[in-house]
Amino acid sequence: MKKIITVSAATAFLLGASVMAVAEIKSLRGDLPLDAKPKPPAKARVISQTGGFKRAWKQQPPLIPHRIDKERITLNENSCLRCHAPDTYKAEKAPMISRTHFADPQNPSDANLMRNRWFCNQCHVPQVEADPLVENVFGR
Ligand code: HEC
Ligand code: HEC
Repeated sequence: MKKIITVSAATAFLLGASVMAVAEIKSLRGDLPLDAKPKPPAKARVISQTGGFKRAWKQQPPLIPHRIDKERITLNENSCLRCHAPDTYKAEKAPMISRTHFADPQNPSDANLMRNRWFCNQCHVPQVEADPLVENVFGR
């Protein structure tokens, strides 16, 4: 019986200590208590850059120099084609989708855009003004 009391007293002490420790733990949502609302992180601004971004290497999928949050890519719909398709790019003064993305590169058309190039933002991404989380040593 005495042993049980000692053990539970020790457990109670440990529990108390860990509750105190929890209050100091800092996670991605800060060191706030669970029921407090964290301040939302600052929204990063998407960079719009006339002339696009310089590629870091020749075959790099070019970065997107404009916002895409209003664009929609689903199984049947791709709003990027509104400006980048072979029959729309001239009027929109946008670069045409690379010929390498078409099954028949000599006669590019919406119909022969390859399905493995359908989800554009699988490879092409916009850029935001944000400090890098870690130092980038690529190419050094
Ligand atoms: C309203 C028209 C419009 C829509 C919609 C649009 N774009 Fe663009 N996009 C442009 C224009 C114009 C440029 C050229 C900007 C410049 O160079 O000044 C461009 C540039 C780009 C480039 C850079 C190409 C290069 O060689 O540097 C990529 C990649 C791109 N867009 C991808 C996309 C993707 C992916 C989508 C859909 C999520 C999309 N765009 C939707 C108009 C559009
Ligand atoms: C699997 C990856 C991938 C997907 C998906 C993809 N691209 Fe690309 N894209 C590339 C690469 C890599 C390049 C550069 C080399 C090349 O031209 O093939 C490129 C080049 C481009 C260029 C520049 C063309 C030029 O002449 O400079 C445009 C514009 C573009 N893609 C638009 C799109 C659009 C719009 C979509 C969606 C319909 C798309 N891409 C889907 C990888 C991809």
